Amino acid sequence: MRRFIGRSTALAATLLATTSLAQAADVEVLHWWTSGGEAAALNVLKDDLADQGIGWVDMPVAGGGGEAAMTTLRARVTAGDAPTAVQMLGFDIQDWAAEGALANLDDVASAEGWDAVVPAALQRFSKYDGHWIAAPVNVHSTNWVWANKAVMDELGIAEPSSWDEFIAAMQKVKDSGRTALAHGGQAWQEATIFDGVVLSTGGVDFYRKAMVDLDPEALGSDTMKEVFDRMATLRGFVDDNFSGRDWNLASAMVINGDAAFQIMGDWAKGEFLNAGKVPGEDFLCFRVPGSAGMVSFNSDQFALFEVQDEEAKKAQAAMASAVMSPEFQSAFNVVKGSVPARTDVSDEAFDDCGKKGMADLAEAAESDTLVGSMGHGHANPAAVKNAMYDVVTAHFNGEFDSEAAVEELVNAVEAAM
Ligand code: GAL
Repeated sequence: MRRFIGRSTALAATLLATTSLAQAADVEVLHWWTSGGEAAALNVLKDDLADQGIGWVDMPVAGGGGEAAMTTLRARVTAGDAPTAVQMLGFDIQDWAAEGALANLDDVASAEGWDAVVPAALQRFSKYDGHWIAAPVNVHSTNWVWANKAVMDELGIAEPSSWDEFIAAMQKVKDSGRTALAHGGQAWQEATIFDGVVLSTGGVDFYRKAMVDLDPEALGSDTMKEVFDRMATLRGFVDDNFSGRDWNLASAMVINGDAAFQIMGDWAKGEFLNAGKVPGEDFLCFRVPGSAGMVSFNSDQFALFEVQDEEAKKAQAAMASAVMSPEFQSAFNVVKGSVPARTDVSDEAFDDCGKKGMADLAEAAESDTLVGSMGHGHANPAAVKNAMYDVVTAHFNGEFDSEAAVEELVNAVEAAM
């Protein structure tokens, strides 16, 4: 008996030592990557960290666009129990940095030369007060259309290059008895479509004035009324069961040929790839017609919450470094549907849509047609974004006509500022 106790105590001691070591080198990651394609990409990150001895404690909060994840984050921080690493977007990163909650990543950033390889448009969100406070893992963009090629071929539809052609194509699909536009009725999904429609209708300057500068004249303009008219037209092409549908289920409708098109960020490509589909053969990717040459981007970044424990700090720094490695950025983004957040990663491993995404991004940065996505927190702060969500979604659901929506938008934005 004595011997048994002795052995089990020794075993317990070893276990304890291993556990606390493992805990010290763990990162708890709060994220909203729960769809099939997203989970596949997340596994690339988990495996990469595991190779470096960093353990992963998963904290998934389902809900595209991350609104639910941000609510959970706020609750965790309020309870004094912040996760070590958090997937975060644009203005949210800046808000948490302003609260002094985020760890300073300057040491790893300067050792690895992040300043030279991360585009300025991203640094605007990864840095606060001149200090690195987040590691960008990708660049997504929202003004994309995902199309089922077999459906298009069957109906003799060519890739539309103007808004009118796009509408004519959708009419053809609708007439054939299929769903033209796969959509999930959730505010963030409508806002995602809105990004592309604002660009397509008003161009980059208008987008900036309205979505970024929040100029009341642009927000209340005839162009904005046309934007809402176009949203109403799109509403006529979705199926009856769209309300509340998750975005990846809408992607699945296009993947299965039940619908022809989805307007969605390039995380949708992750779903097509995860289903074994090949770009150019099974599906097409093109910019929302009328917005070619323009890119509304969002970038997932990992913000690391300030911790005191030295081992935990080391694990955080190792995670930041792993996320920023060029090899990882290639491997991860190939699966995720996004493109690298560094300018020095080759496009060799990427499929045609990825190559196009990388070329579009570089070109848009060069020609100043790169804008932050409103739908995904890169055009304006959360309060304004939420005000825009409310109006866009209420109009999409028929609560206001376009004229009333324009008025509501001006007022809601003013109240939120
Ligand atoms: C975005 C995020 C993407 C993608 C999408 C749907 O906000 O940047 O990585 O996951 O939500 O969940």
